[in-house]
Amino acid sequence: MDLSRRDDTLRELMDDPDCDPERLHATLRRFGVVNRVVSGWDSLYRTRLRLLLADLDRPARVLDLGSGGGDVIARLAGLAARDRLDVQWTGADPDPRAHRAACARAIPGATFVCADAGDLLHRGDVFDLVISNHVLHHLGSPELVEFARASRALSSGVVLHNDIARSRRAYWLYAVGITPLAPGTFLRTDGLRSIRRSHRREELAVALGPEWTVTAPTPFRLLAEAPGRA
Ligand SMILES: C[S@@+](CC[C@H](N)C(=O)[O-])C[C@H]1O[C@@H](n2cnc3c(N)ncnc32)[C@H](O)[C@@H]1O
Repeated sequence: MDLSRRDDTLRELMDDPDCDPERLHATLRRFGVVNRVVSGWDSLYRTRLRLLLADLDRPARVLDLGSGGGDVIARLAGLAARDRLDVQWTGADPDPRAHRAACARAIPGATFVCADAGDLLHRGDVFDLVISNHVLHHLGSPELVEFARASRALSSGVVLHNDIARSRRAYWLYAVGITPLAPGTFLRTDGLRSIRRSHRREELAVALGPEWTVTAPTPFRLLAEAPGRA
């Protein structure tokens, strides 16, 4: 397996509009468990988000771009509710199948829209914090730059994009670790393709440009951060 270069020619099975809807639904549902294990949002909430959300004298407005089945918002909303923080959560995803899956969850304080960043900009929406999880690796070079630009234009505070760091260890550990969760889903094939599509830290820093700070909070993760421009 050649992981020395990002392979953005690979297509994920769940991105096929004609893929098996039951497997897609099961995949979106199981993202919650996968994200709890790999994505580090609990730690990001404790170290970054909680302070940002508590620092306003009105309800904080948070946008999750590419929210999929809504699991990151579900988790963060639960954590914020425990801390009695008043937050308006918006999840936006241009894929109507993901949007339907997210709408089927009842998450207090959360609204889901079938839209991309451009649609939200067009509506004039502004948020205190814009986040994404596992979206950057989905995007080819021009889309990545546009996604990053639009995410900053939507935020009056901070933008945090959380994604996979490509490595051989991540690939082989995921291949083994996903085995119990994979049956009936696209998690195995798409997760491995995602790792092959994802960036290394220096690649992402170059792709996003100097206004972004890209860190590796854990060995298999990248966090791209920039100030909002709204
Ligand atoms: C791997 S899923 C991640 C879903 C969710 N963030 C999570 O972590 O569970 C990637 C999502 O990004 C969405 N996506 C792809 N391109 C996008 C774009 N340009 N803007 C917003 N979302 C996008 C897809 O529709 C898909 O739901």
